[in-house]
Amino acid sequence: MRSTSQMPGKILFVDDEQLICEMAHDLFKESPYELIVANSGPAGLKILEKEPVMVVVSDFKMEGMDGIEFLTKVNDTYPDIVRIMITGVAGVEVIIQAINEGKINQILQKPWKTEEFMKAIENAVRRYRNRSTSRSLEEKYMSHTRELETRVEERTRELTLVVDELQKRNEKLETTHQQLIQSDKMASLGLMAGTIAHDISNPLFVIQGNIEILSTRRYLETKDRDLLQSIKGQIRRIESLVQSIRNYSKKSAGTYEKLNLIDAMEEAFLLTRKMVNVKEIEVVTHFPEGIPYIYGNANQIEQVLMNIIQNGVQAMEIEGTLTCEIGHTVKVVDEIEQDFWQVTIMDTGAGIPADKLEVIFDPFFTTKEEGTGLGLNICQRIVNEHGGTIEVYSTLGKGTTFVITFPEYNIAVHEWDKKQKQAMQ
Ligand SMILES: Nc1ncnc2c1ncn2[C@@H]1O[C@H](COP(=O)(O)OP(=O)(O)OP(=O)(O)O)[C@@H](O)[C@H]1O
Ligand SMILES: [Mg+2]
Repeated sequence: MRSTSQMPGKILFVDDEQLICEMAHDLFKESPYELIVANSGPAGLKILEKEPVMVVVSDFKMEGMDGIEFLTKVNDTYPDIVRIMITGVAGVEVIIQAINEGKINQILQKPWKTEEFMKAIENAVRRYRNRSTSRSLEEKYMSHTRELETRVEERTRELTLVVDELQKRNEKLETTHQQLIQSDKMASLGLMAGTIAHDISNPLFVIQGNIEILSTRRYLETKDRDLLQSIKGQIRRIESLVQSIRNYSKKSAGTYEKLNLIDAMEEAFLLTRKMVNVKEIEVVTHFPEGIPYIYGNANQIEQVLMNIIQNGVQAMEIEGTLTCEIGHTVKVVDEIEQDFWQVTIMDTGAGIPADKLEVIFDPFFTTKEEGTGLGLNICQRIVNEHGGTIEVYSTLGKGTTFVITFPEYNIAVHEWDKKQKQAMQ
């Protein structure tokens, strides 16, 4: 937008008669405005492309492009320029229509009177200046509005980000809170279980002693001896249950070291080979080429793997396949991609009903006559303590897959150090 209110006003005069143009020239000699003359509509339009013109005065009757056509074009491209038409007698109706449609601002009769002509020019200049001032005010207002809108948009975007972030933190807080409640529950459960185990073992010891004494009685009938034998068997079961509960409630800190998951897996197979060999179970293993190092307590890791193998074997009737894979995987932890080793243990056993999948990790949930229901709960606790995860997938009648992940050695050591430092603060 060119502002001409400060610059000397330019007036464009268009007429195809040389004489009239010269007359106009003379008129403007004394005026404060600079006059530019063109001898046709197209020539006038060319000038407008370069010059800052406030008022255009054009003759009506011209060869080629007439005054109305020319001023209509001026109006379309430069609506601020004030347009005056000079006319003789002809075409009054067309001119009136052009004025009514706003294409021409004023009309001057030919031949004109100098005073009247100059007055019209002055008025037109004033009109132009008013228009351009209000236009520039409007522009300023629009630009302020746009700026304000952009700012509001920016702030809204910032606020949305803050709200998103807050929501994320809130969710994290909620999860942490749930975990805390869970670990709190587990801790008290462990403590309670330890006390119960302790309280049971004393009377159990007395019962066991008394049974031993009874067993030595010579006058016992065979039937009673069998009964005592059965009681002894049941006592042994209670003892092993008490032992499991004790192990469960024991603090699981232990020593952490650099471990090769393949070694732990092989050790777990070695320790469970007796139960595997009783059935016709094919064991298939797929191990990675590199060494899957993790950071952990060897006994605990073996305990986890043994528990899962045992469950798998127990789920298969007589024959089946137990597949064990170890592979590398990447997981996103706290929005950062981290390296993990993943152990997959897959059996072709009975499978777990969908409604039981959620409870198998709960303490004391068992479907086995001689089970304690602590196996998987202990596994979950150990894996979580090692910064890993344990998941289960199962199809009834087809089999079950346990997927366990452990952070890769370097990451686990780093996390461990961080935790130790936080604990010391
Ligand atoms: N591989 C599996 N296939 C089918 N069911 C399974 C499998 N693993 C676990 N389960 C189900 O989950 C229950 C809980 O398992 P968990 O290891 O915690 O205890 P348990 O095996 O019953 O007892 P324990 O571990 O003391 O021998 C099992 O009783 C069984 O119903
Ligand atoms: Mg088990």
